[in-house]
Amino acid sequence: MRKRIVAGNWKMNKTYEEALSLVSEIDNMVKDEVNGEVTVIVAPPFPFLQSVGKLTQGNDLMYLAAQNVSEHESGAYTGEVSASMLKSVGVQYVIIGHSERRMYHHEDAQTLYKKLKAAIAQGMTPIFCCGEPLEERDADRHFDYVGKQLHDSLSYLSNEEFDKVVVAYEPIWAIGTGRTASSQQAQEMHAYIREQLSRMFDAEAAFNCSILYGGSCNPGNARELFSQPDVDGGLIGGASLKSRDFTDIIKSF
Ligand code: 13P
Repeated sequence: MRKRIVAGNWKMNKTYEEALSLVSEIDNMVKDEVNGEVTVIVAPPFPFLQSVGKLTQGNDLMYLAAQNVSEHESGAYTGEVSASMLKSVGVQYVIIGHSERRMYHHEDAQTLYKKLKAAIAQGMTPIFCCGEPLEERDADRHFDYVGKQLHDSLSYLSNEEFDKVVVAYEPIWAIGTGRTASSQQAQEMHAYIREQLSRMFDAEAAFNCSILYGGSCNPGNARELFSQPDVDGGLIGGASLKSRDFTDIIKSF
């Protein structure tokens, strides 16, 4: 069964105290206001994972994600965090291949493939991000661009490994810009992604894969986006830093 998911990517925001108040506000609102049909995920920065996780553990609907993971298992990789470390503090999901990591940290397709393998080997669910920059969309090459991103990192996974994966489509021109993809643009890309997945893996796995939309998603546009047949939820940046907005997005289903 395809899961409906709303995930909050906090990026590099919040201090420890702020992170704890944000997650406890979200926890209370979700308990009071959200029915059991949506999986809610929060992805705080690394240092806060364990403490935030203590709160998410007490809520049946909420799960904990990391924003990144090392492709290596362990050893002399200063500053890196391994999949087994994340697993050991209760992390269940990992964002992999966010455009900000591809851009600022030069993560290439092979590295992302290794990160996917590392997360899956520890029993965590990767949220694999793809999405085109503005010039590719303007040149009408966005389908090929995203198709290549999927193929170059995902196609080496087995069907069993792919069963674990969640995909997030985040057009770069919509991230943090206030400019959202229209629901039609999102739907046509999500349908294309699902079709590509069905060529790489078995059709049932592709059908069951949750494909999230990310990019200036907010309480005002979430309902329309989430009403599309191939949009199974959202990966939320800015609006996930405000408990009211984030909860209202969750309630848009
Ligand atoms: P915004 O919602 O701030 O546009 O960010 C989207 C995103 O990058 C989530 O990973």
